[in-house]
Amino acid sequence: MSSRPSGGERVGITDLARMKANGERIVMVTAYDFPSAGAADAAGVDVVLVGDSGAMTVLGYDSTVPVTVDEMLVLCRAARRGAHRPLLVADLPFGSYEASDGDAVATSQRFVKEAGADAVKLEGGGASAERARAIVRAGIPVMGHVGLTPQTAAAGGGFRARGRTAEEALTVLDAARSLEEAGCFSIVFEAIPAAAAAQIAQCIRVPVIGIGAGSDVDGQVLVFHDLLGIHNGAPARFVKRYDALRERMISGLAEFADDVRSSRYPAEEHTYRMPSEERERLARLLPGR
Ligand code: KIV
Repeated sequence: MSSRPSGGERVGITDLARMKANGERIVMVTAYDFPSAGAADAAGVDVVLVGDSGAMTVLGYDSTVPVTVDEMLVLCRAARRGAHRPLLVADLPFGSYEASDGDAVATSQRFVKEAGADAVKLEGGGASAERARAIVRAGIPVMGHVGLTPQTAAAGGGFRARGRTAEEALTVLDAARSLEEAGCFSIVFEAIPAAAAAQIAQCIRVPVIGIGAGSDVDGQVLVFHDLLGIHNGAPARFVKRYDALRERMISGLAEFADDVRSSRYPAEEHTYRMPSEERERLARLLPGR
């Protein structure tokens, strides 16, 4: 029997723990607005992450660093309106939680109170684990994130896999353990060699959701725009494209432009009708105006 809630019940953090215990894979996807979150819900996804990747995929920034709490709140509110059954996790943006426990708790409360998030996510171990502990104590579930952590990637050696050496893999394990110990209900493993991720995940009791971390973890997450082929550019090695929506969007828009320019659109079926006697009356009335 599946551990997933049925009958419209919302997925909770205890459901994820049960799924891990039963060996059922957890499905997580990012979404940043009403239609994408609604599509994820309709597809039966378990967790929707309003990722700060939205800074790049929907807001057009060059990295995740510039996005603000207010911008993320708009995205999160819209996603909440679309996602009813999935657990909704909001990414705490760079600069909104690191400086103090007070900042971390206050920002997390905004996502819960103002945008309907069920949980928040933050990046890194060390001081971030302390922030996670404070947020959990304030009654808000926290998801951790280790391995490649995009908010601080530039300071930590750039956008490359983490844990290719045994020493680096142990650093990832330390970070994951500190987050687990702080009370995180789940941890994202990003860009970690599959062999290292599998061994580290064995040492972690909470569900591990991988992105570029191989298949021996408890679930997988991909960025909505990557998996559906919505944005331009070469995808990361771990991305599997399930569609090419950007090409399909461009082709639909080009066809519309063509139809307008050649007067094929709008056709009869796209227009409202007017009774012929009213049309004739209007024709008689117009010259006097
Ligand atoms: O912001 C995001 O999309 C993420 C995922 C890569 C896990 O943090």
